[in-house]
Amino acid sequence: MKSLYVFTIGCQMNSSDADLFYRLLSPMGYLPTDSPESADLVIVNTCSIRAKAEDKAFSFIGRLQAIKAVKPGFRIGVAGCVAQQEGAGILSRVPYVDFIFGTHAIWRLPEIVTALEAGSGRIVDVDMAEELPERPDTGEMRGGVSDFVTIMRGCDNFCTYCVVPYVRGREMSRRPEAIVDEVKKKVAAGAREITLLGQNVNSYGKKEGLPDFPELLRMVADIEGLQRLRFATSHPKDLSDELIDAFAQIPGLCNHLHLPVQSGSTAVLSRMNRKYTREHYLERIARLRDVCPDIALGTDIIVGFPGESSEDFNKTLSLVESIRYDGVFAFAYSDRPNAKAADFSGKVPEKEKKSRLAELLALQDEITREKNEACVGKMEEILVEGKSPRKVDSSAITDPAAGDRVTGRTRSNRVVHAILAEGEKNPVGRCIPVRIDRALGHSLWGSQTGK
Ligand code: 5AD
Ligand code: SF4
Repeated sequence: MKSLYVFTIGCQMNSSDADLFYRLLSPMGYLPTDSPESADLVIVNTCSIRAKAEDKAFSFIGRLQAIKAVKPGFRIGVAGCVAQQEGAGILSRVPYVDFIFGTHAIWRLPEIVTALEAGSGRIVDVDMAEELPERPDTGEMRGGVSDFVTIMRGCDNFCTYCVVPYVRGREMSRRPEAIVDEVKKKVAAGAREITLLGQNVNSYGKKEGLPDFPELLRMVADIEGLQRLRFATSHPKDLSDELIDAFAQIPGLCNHLHLPVQSGSTAVLSRMNRKYTREHYLERIARLRDVCPDIALGTDIIVGFPGESSEDFNKTLSLVESIRYDGVFAFAYSDRPNAKAADFSGKVPEKEKKSRLAELLALQDEITREKNEACVGKMEEILVEGKSPRKVDSSAITDPAAGDRVTGRTRSNRVVHAILAEGEKNPVGRCIPVRIDRALGHSLWGSQTGK
């Protein structure tokens, strides 16, 4: 038997691709292992969304050189967005890397590895496809209670800061039957919650004339044994009334939406090529809250986009203050190859970007803290994902003598570490009621009530 270790950086799509690598290579005898040292094959699954992510990939690849030096037959592959972007350039930069495969070459991984095993030289495959290949699922599903299914790949939006359309290609949707089939298999393997993934799920199926996204949601929500359904990501310009209504109509759909705003200034949004205004975004949020009053909202924000003035930035702060998100991912703008904004004037100095980022994060930390504190004393349903990795903080729990600690998430996507009621055995994969006892920074502590 041979073993495979995949090191993944970046978004949920990359994690889901890592799962596909394991599934594609398991029929060839590759079993997952938990360290690069114990592997025969290491795949570095890269992200190029910001320069920092790219640096992280190369520093990990650097660590593999020592293993390669002492382990005959040890192979290193580079996958994902940096592989697509740099192609053969990586082979010249890193002489001990064996193969590069891009975002559209994933399905050819078995052929690539077979050729390497047969003694081929180094391989580069960064060809882009016109259509999404649909391979029969071979390997075993190995995801957990909460798992991901990719429904579409690529992006047609060309936001001016973003590298995704260049490294992942044009939007392509999978057929609904293939998606339903994969979700069914994941549920049979133990998944209870599925997140449907795409760069802009709201345009699912449009180009191909397939059922639209709200229809797909209904098809998936009907699958027996699936308790919770989520999706990511939506583009605010395409968030339709039908999709908003789905939050009230589909019982399994969780009350949580990640809706990246990127900036609170219409002028900046226009230079970002986002195709919506601050007012449109606020109107969509108001409608969402009308339809689903307890919806939890998350967003992505870029600070220091070229030309962002302090007035523009204050508009972002005021938007965050008025929406009061449940979670914010904030990033300092980073120039990316091919992306148009790299050539824009008015670059914001690094120091200024850092200070704006810190100010935004401090504001959101305060909002998160207040929102978490407001949960204390309330009852929530959590889907138990596993044992809690957190150390017991005896003051955080009501009864330190009670059962094991587990971790799960509420339907609104908050992480809860909970103490099980006495006599409770293994609730992994089940939804259990908990009372929230204490709020700690970004997580909540609770205890199981009843059984
Ligand atoms: N610089 C900083 N942040 C970026 N993002 C995408 N491209 C860049 C960039 N060049 C952020 C956006 C996106 C998230 C995944 O990453 O906020 O929504
Ligand atoms: Fe990038 Fe914009 Fe496409 Fe999102 S919608 S992947 S930010 S180009």
